[in-house]
Amino acid sequence: MALSGDSVFASDWARTLTDPLAFAHEQRCLSYAWTFLGFTTDLAKDGDWFRATLATRSVFVQRFGSELKGFENVCAHRFYPLRTKDRGNGPIVCGFHHWRYDGDGCAIGIPKCQENFGTVSRALGARLKPIEIATCGALVFGRFPAPEKRESLAEFLAAGFPILAALSQSRATPRALSMPVAANWRLNLHINLDDYHTVAIHPTTFGRNGYVRREDISYVRFGLHSAFLGTSKPDAFAEMAAACADGSFRATHYCTFQILPNLIVSLLRSDGDFFHCYVQQSVPVAHDRSVQRIWVHPSPFQADHSWFIRWTRPLSDPIRNRLLWHYVRRVGREDNSACERLQEVAHQVDRPPFLSAIEERVGWFEQSYRQLVTEGEEMQKCINLHQMNH
Ligand code: FES
Ligand SMILES: [Fe+2]
Repeated sequence: MALSGDSVFASDWARTLTDPLAFAHEQRCLSYAWTFLGFTTDLAKDGDWFRATLATRSVFVQRFGSELKGFENVCAHRFYPLRTKDRGNGPIVCGFHHWRYDGDGCAIGIPKCQENFGTVSRALGARLKPIEIATCGALVFGRFPAPEKRESLAEFLAAGFPILAALSQSRATPRALSMPVAANWRLNLHINLDDYHTVAIHPTTFGRNGYVRREDISYVRFGLHSAFLGTSKPDAFAEMAAACADGSFRATHYCTFQILPNLIVSLLRSDGDFFHCYVQQSVPVAHDRSVQRIWVHPSPFQADHSWFIRWTRPLSDPIRNRLLWHYVRRVGREDNSACERLQEVAHQVDRPPFLSAIEERVGWFEQSYRQLVTEGEEMQKCINLHQMNH
């Protein structure tokens, strides 16, 4: 049941891999889509903030009491970045001329304001560009605002919402890693959704088990997103969503969820009945560059381990965690170097690929990606119109 890539890939699908202008247009469109930015564990205390990238633009998210607020990381005065580190705690004060902002992004403390601007700080009306923030479990998402009413994060994540909410809960701060990749972010997504490359690219890890058989697994679409479940049981996805929602879920097999545009959340079986939650994001940097961010934490679900396993866990957990980390890095490096080779010849690609039955999710991703870009184009038109009328 080979699929023709023609029906799901645009004929010029590789253009944004080689053309900086096409890439910039794509990113402008995707800035209106809910995008993963970071974890609530980095925003536990009042005043905690982290910096992130939303469709190539630098942004930051900060806790103000019970609320999370997000802003573009650019000062209203002369555009200096307000946050110059990955995370921290404290008020929003620009490092260039010390303008100070409140939780609504308004400049409320401008040094020597009367003397230099002829008025008081508030009267100047200078403010930061806000971004919309929403959370799902410990995952923080953001998007650029638009005048139209749009779907909430829960609507966007659809049936995946309770699953991501449950998987992202971590008892400890997730272990994090970030790797630069000399390849377009979409190539990274493609390889993650491709269950056909494992034998050739990961011969000593997954490849040892040969190819997965389509009839042994389930591929599921929910909203714009997709999942791979390591079981052929009908309704496994709906059952998992229901069990995650009511707190009764127990991990029994590998599964992975791809959330448009660039997030992967998986439940990895590390050894026996031990599972880890794996979060990966391919952050776009340029048409031919991205950064792969990875976080891993032990699965938050209860497991029925024998007394011996429970008793030896203080000794075995560090070894298990270290082995898993080693494996995550190796698989990541192998995938990334395959993507970098693909990027080298991307300018020669002028048609859709052939897709096997175990690459079906790659095609689904391309369809959903095009839909998101089209919605972003509509949003941009609507914003332009709105600006013309005001
Ligand atoms: S650029 Fe931020 S205070 Fe001047
Ligand atoms: Fe891979």
